[in-house]
Amino acid sequence: MKFAVIGTGKTGGKVVEILKEDQIVGPFDSSNKPTVEKLKEADAAILFVPAAAVDELIDPLMDSKIPAAWGTTGYDWPDDLDHQLKEKNIKWLQASNFSLGMNIVRRCLNIIGQSASVLDEPEFHIHEIHHKHKQDAPSGTAISWEEWLGKEAKITSERKGDIKGIHKLEVKTDAESIHLEHKAHDRKIFAQGAIWAAEQLVNADISPGFHDLSTIFDNVMQK
Ligand SMILES: NC(=O)c1ccc[n+]([C@@H]2O[C@H](COP(=O)([O-])OP(=O)(O)OC[C@H]3O[C@@H](n4cnc5c(N)ncnc54)[C@H](OP(=O)(O)O)[C@@H]3O)[C@@H](O)[C@H]2O)c1
Repeated sequence: MKFAVIGTGKTGGKVVEILKEDQIVGPFDSSNKPTVEKLKEADAAILFVPAAAVDELIDPLMDSKIPAAWGTTGYDWPDDLDHQLKEKNIKWLQASNFSLGMNIVRRCLNIIGQSASVLDEPEFHIHEIHHKHKQDAPSGTAISWEEWLGKEAKITSERKGDIKGIHKLEVKTDAESIHLEHKAHDRKIFAQGAIWAAEQLVNADISPGFHDLSTIFDNVMQK
């Protein structure tokens, strides 16, 4: 399978590292932008570009009709995108966190949140730790954890060293505690997840439209 790799920075660079040379179309960056003709040489596209670059990439990607896995965060996707893709018979997906391990954690959090009603006055505490250059706090992932849990949680943040991302949950009652932890060691988890997702778009029974990785992941896990 061939992948058009668009964006070769901190994350896209990992996609390039993982794939074999003959699996890559491009790679493309801001000084070597993808054309429709080039994109058509690939079975799917993987994009890790900044939000500011998305507007100019939507048209060539749509014209090429290849499936695309978008990793860009902070972009406001058009409301009618799903409709447009369905009309053109194109499959795209996006994820704010492509880590497949984090998708397993998402399912665990769903179960913990749904089952916690049997506990006696449980308290939920999410703690996230990242490198000292990270500007935002709490992390977007910590906020997602609270959503996936479906319970109000206390969220705390810590910034130190070169930590790539640690998220922890403690569910505590008077009599017991439950702990769940996810630790990122390498940015390649995002690249691996994006490659897996692009392969699903090509090989799995996925309908045209704009999907979230969580839906695709859950569908695959149910089979
Ligand atoms: N979903 C996830 O799991 C996940 C994980 C990590 C990051 N992200 C997101 O992915 C995005 C990229 O993050 P990053 O840290 O990898 O960024 P980065 O290191 O700044 O790399 C961005 C890449 O995009 C390229 N680019 C910029 N404009 C372009 C254009 N018009 N056409 C083609 N390529 C263009 C850049 O090319 P030049 O080098 O030539 O400028 C560079 O190679 C961000 O939105 C980030 O939040 C998502």
